[in-house]
Amino acid sequence: MFDYTVVHARQSVGYKHLIKAAQSLRCSNVNTSALRLFQFELAHNRRKRMMKKMSEKQERVVVRGLRDVAAAETKISYVNSNGTLYYLGYDIDDLVERVCYEEVAHLLLYNKLPNAKELDEFRSRLVSEMKLPQRVIKRIRVAPKNCHPMEVLRSEVSHLSEYDPHPNDHSDAANKRRAIELVAKVPTIVATLHRTRTDQQLVAPNQEYGFAENFLYLFKGKTADHQEKEAIDRFMTLHADHGFNASTFAARVTASTNSDIYSAITSAVGTLKGPLHGGACEKVMLMLDDINTEEEVEEYIQGMLDDQKKIMGFGHRVYKAEDPRTKHLRSIAENLCHRTATLNLYKTCMKIENVVHDKKKIFPNVDFYAAVVLNALGVPKEFFTPFFASSRTLGWTTHVIEQYQDAVLLRPSSEYIGEFGRSFVPIERR
Ligand code: CMC
Repeated sequence: MFDYTVVHARQSVGYKHLIKAAQSLRCSNVNTSALRLFQFELAHNRRKRMMKKMSEKQERVVVRGLRDVAAAETKISYVNSNGTLYYLGYDIDDLVERVCYEEVAHLLLYNKLPNAKELDEFRSRLVSEMKLPQRVIKRIRVAPKNCHPMEVLRSEVSHLSEYDPHPNDHSDAANKRRAIELVAKVPTIVATLHRTRTDQQLVAPNQEYGFAENFLYLFKGKTADHQEKEAIDRFMTLHADHGFNASTFAARVTASTNSDIYSAITSAVGTLKGPLHGGACEKVMLMLDDINTEEEVEEYIQGMLDDQKKIMGFGHRVYKAEDPRTKHLRSIAENLCHRTATLNLYKTCMKIENVVHDKKKIFPNVDFYAAVVLNALGVPKEFFTPFFASSRTLGWTTHVIEQYQDAVLLRPSSEYIGEFGRSFVPIERR
């Protein structure tokens, strides 16, 4: 009976027949090895069927790097490949040089440029929120000196959540309050880290100063002059937001799970740190340190390209023309280099720009001249990306609030290209 059923099942290659045969075997007195053989055959067939099914699974189009994929709608900023950038509908070319960073912060958080009274009140609130909890300062003091400032910043942003007075309030108003606190406190974490690492006294924020000016004051311990004030204000304005860049996207993904805003900004800080994103700024300075004179530029760049290396501070995922922030930062860099007698550095940058464009037809991005600006302001290069983070916290928090309002989980799929049907081998037989 066994032989007949197996032969019949095999001949018809019918799954139903195999099941029937197995059932009848269980009822009869056929020996156990025959039963095992039959069960093996069943399992094998089941695996074959599954593999067939899997290979017939619907093929998805994989968009590598999510290039040009619109993952959500946003009203916050618009990055156009033709080289324009808008904050809440305002062309940044119309804002830079005409508004201060606090006005941009008010615009992003409240969708409105403030009038004089609102600006005064908002500035005062931001400046008073720059104060850090004592225990955060203590932790910054004991952070190992070999840690990159972005690592300490990432941890301390996360620690801030421990001091939220109403962690269970998920209202829009509570998130706006948290956003303002984060925008104000992130620069203070950065400044405190620098002051403690260099064994310098901490200074308290000054209500007489603007917000960006206060940041530089807390960092350097001395009042910024007019040109420095202007430079840091414009730097922060130009870095305030930039569409669905990688760190903003990371923040929105975290927020889309309904996690808290501190977690979202912690994700963003970690993402900005990478050299393909905000970490490029520090790498630009390392490259500029390597190039001694204008005459060395051509050979240096050719060497990098021959070695298939990326030139830091060049290229962009979206812009196919010049990054609209570059012209502003180039001009700030030129002015600052004039006064700090580092005009040779500026000339070297111009030469790099020309050589890279000739060879690769790509333009400098925001990080290239930002490095020169921060260097001229006396900021050590390992703090370049933390300065970027201090400005971008505004964009991140605004996006997080928008994501909460959108209330959809950001969860893409993937195209599985691995194996199916691997036979499990118990540990004693591996
Ligand atoms: N140096 C040399 N070649 C470059 C560079 C560069 N910096 N950027 C792009 N290219 C080339 C790239 O090799 C490719 O050439 P080909 O078609 O011959 O293979 C072509 O330009 C297109 O580049 P891509 O790699 O497809 O561009 P992407 O959109 O994947 O990458 C990028 C964008 C920003 C990661 C890249 O340009 C890069 O690595 N730049 C250097 C790091 C940097 O400056 N990052 C800051 C980005 S902007 C501000 C920010 O987000 O913080």
